[in-house]
Amino acid sequence: MSATDEVISSSGEEEGTRRDFIHLLAGMTAVGAGAAVVVPLVDQMNPAASVMAMATKEVAIDAIEPGQVIKVVWQGKPVFVRRRTPEEIEQAAAMPLSSLKDPIARNENIDDKEPATAENRVMPGKEEWVVVVGICTHLGCVPLGPNETGAGGEWKGWFCPCHGSHYDNLGRIMKGPAPQNLLIMPYEFLSDTMIKIG
Ligand code: FES
Repeated sequence: MSATDEVISSSGEEEGTRRDFIHLLAGMTAVGAGAAVVVPLVDQMNPAASVMAMATKEVAIDAIEPGQVIKVVWQGKPVFVRRRTPEEIEQAAAMPLSSLKDPIARNENIDDKEPATAENRVMPGKEEWVVVVGICTHLGCVPLGPNETGAGGEWKGWFCPCHGSHYDNLGRIMKGPAPQNLLIMPYEFLSDTMIKIG
């Protein structure tokens, strides 16, 4: 689903809810319903639930083949969901920490001062999945993945053509002006085929 679809859908539901609410209030006035009934309805209009829905995003990942990356939109930002091949997992794991430009994990799911090891850039037991915010840490462009122009750069991860930043398949900055690894925002596996971002 595109970002536009998502916005239209959300606001459409909101409009529907508001209309229903107005109709319900009108109906209650007609039958003389008291304030005690209105209170729970007002409570239902509390924006907390809709804000929470916008704050998180569930993504089905079962159709992503090894070697593929999809891009979804979360809170207006691109997020890359990548399923790595065994070769890609091996290649990134073999990278010595001393060769990393940014030695910090930048993973909001753990202590972000942890080192940027392969283990600290994925969820435990889910090595094939890499989920990162798709915003270059240089000036904010959206890097290109392995299935796009530039084929993911020298490390076959992501390449930002704006000023030439190369990331590996874990989203770690390897070369170029970007100062930090791609951010890993909070996310969790709801099942083997579904993740929740945010
Ligand atoms: S914004 Fe990515 S290299 Fe400049």
